[in-house]
Amino acid sequence: MAGFAEPGDAAALLRARYGSASASSDGIAANDVLRTILGHRSVRAFQPDPLPAGTLETLVAAAQSAATSSNLQAWSVVAVEDPARRARFAELAGAQGFIRQAPLFLAWLADLSRLDRVARERVEPLEGVRYLEAFMVALVDAALAAQNAAVAAESLGLGCVYVGALRNHPEAVAAELGLPPDCMAVFGLSVGVPDAARAAAVKPRLPQSVVLHRERYATAQEAGEVRRYDADLAAFSARNGMGEAGWTDRVLARVGTVAALRGRDRMREALNAMGFGLR
Ligand SMILES: Cc1cc2nc3c(=O)[nH]c(=O)nc-3n(C[C@H](O)[C@H](O)[C@H](O)COP(=O)(O)O)c2cc1C
Repeated sequence: MAGFAEPGDAAALLRARYGSASASSDGIAANDVLRTILGHRSVRAFQPDPLPAGTLETLVAAAQSAATSSNLQAWSVVAVEDPARRARFAELAGAQGFIRQAPLFLAWLADLSRLDRVARERVEPLEGVRYLEAFMVALVDAALAAQNAAVAAESLGLGCVYVGALRNHPEAVAAELGLPPDCMAVFGLSVGVPDAARAAAVKPRLPQSVVLHRERYATAQEAGEVRRYDADLAAFSARNGMGEAGWTDRVLARVGTVAALRGRDRMREALNAMGFGLR
């Protein structure tokens, strides 16, 4: 299977990534890995085909090759292929139909439970895992591992999309996956063969000048650049049947109110119900 990015098209990918701000991307190097990364787009329409043999194991090897804080490896992943279970996750994650469609759903876990288990013989209780810091370690580890798997999948010509909505009902998800205490599904990743008839496009990002600060944090150019990005993203969305909202509209819709968190405002309570007991 060919990847999204064909050799030689890095300049086109950068134009797609930065829209009208692409001049600032001059001089960026390109190789196969970078073309795969630059060509990323979330895929939400999949063919029903099963994944080639060995794909899951390849993705997990890529995930385990990511750096991990102090080599604690404080993450795990549950591979869900059973259609009925995927259908239940589709509903738990806000009726997102692509979870039913894609043959593989990976639930990425911030997992401190293994550290508890291995240490139990020697130390009880394991004091250090009771702090928010330990949860942050596990969360960062899970994210780095998952992103390595996502890049690996895309390099194989597969498509994927993260599913943060798996956090809408953390306890129900934990029950469905049979998770032990001190272990939480922090997001999902649907993986499959993209449906070429409903191909996704590379979505523009903020100009580099907004996210890249040199020596000291600076916001002098930010307002103007964000206005330009609002227009770019609105045009992209209109072209791709994703509404006409600009970026600022989407930020407000997503984090403007507590209601917009769709139940995730009770995350601290959920974490403690799952045994983290964070200080
Ligand atoms: C942690 C995380 C959670 C996400 N959750 C969802 C989700 O629940 N549903 C969805 O359709 N997309 C989800 N996405 C995909 C983002 O909407 C997408 O990455 C973003 O709009 C940028 O688009 P792109 O990935 O095509 O470049 C998530 C992405 C991340 C990183």
